[in-house]
Amino acid sequence: MHVIGGPASTALAERISRELGNAPFAIPFTKRFPDGEIYLRVGGRFEGEDVVIVQSTRADQDLLELLLLEDAVREAGARRVFVVVPYLGYARQDRRFFPGEPVSARTFCRHIELDADAVVTVDLHSRQTLDQFSKPAFEASGIPAIARLLRERPIDVLVSPDQGGIDRVRRMAQLLDKPWFAMHKKRLDSEHVELSLPNEFPVPIEGKQLVIVDDVITTGGTIVEAARLLKKRSVAGVSASCTHGLFLRDAFERIKANVDEVYSTDTLGNPAEKASVAPDIAQILLRETAA
Ligand code: R5P
Repeated sequence: MHVIGGPASTALAERISRELGNAPFAIPFTKRFPDGEIYLRVGGRFEGEDVVIVQSTRADQDLLELLLLEDAVREAGARRVFVVVPYLGYARQDRRFFPGEPVSARTFCRHIELDADAVVTVDLHSRQTLDQFSKPAFEASGIPAIARLLRERPIDVLVSPDQGGIDRVRRMAQLLDKPWFAMHKKRLDSEHVELSLPNEFPVPIEGKQLVIVDDVITTGGTIVEAARLLKKRSVAGVSASCTHGLFLRDAFERIKANVDEVYSTDTLGNPAEKASVAPDIAQILLRETAA
């Protein structure tokens, strides 16, 4: 099996190749044509081989690079192409909210799978997005990676910032054998939220070390509000964790000013990247390539 690290996910791709028993790893040569179009070239031939391409699609150009990479490895003789998209961009528009809108997640899935035999992604905004793929598609979880990290830290209670995150925080709590609770969240606009604490807690939170567990941090509005509210209850400390750390603009600095630690996985590459999803992705690849 060969692993190709797309420009958006080079470091994670290399970690995945190591988890696959030091599978041969390569990165494509890329440049821009004078008119701005993307050029890329993958070295070597993959006659009869399985090839894994790793590329998050956060920026618009990431999708184009991924499509070009898929075609390039097919041209180079790949037998099967496994596409790993650690962070699937445009996944939040997973339905038509207003007339005239596209279902962006659906069209992304259709294009990504065009030259793929199977797709692996991590913590989708909505699990139903997996159904948009017509080829085999698998979702790895970022929770075990964060749990492996938190096991080494002094943690008392886990917190979901919203009711939608209950399954996530419950799973993390099971792995760490810790109590948890969920806040209530009302989104005011894309940057502001209103949060409230539940009426009851599984244990008193005063003097405790809390970790907020979220799937994605974007503007940081949710984490900052959650941390402010929790600190009013005389907790010993508040940290924040997420699978996908987008940290738009000054989000990371604003969060750091309000929490003790920020933990993120490496699906995107950011200053809070302290846990790797490489073992969890590799496990799926090993299982599926053996099939
Ligand atoms: C919401 O459904 C998600 O789980 C996150 O809480 C949200 O996307 C975080 O966004 P922000 O950092 O902009 O508050």
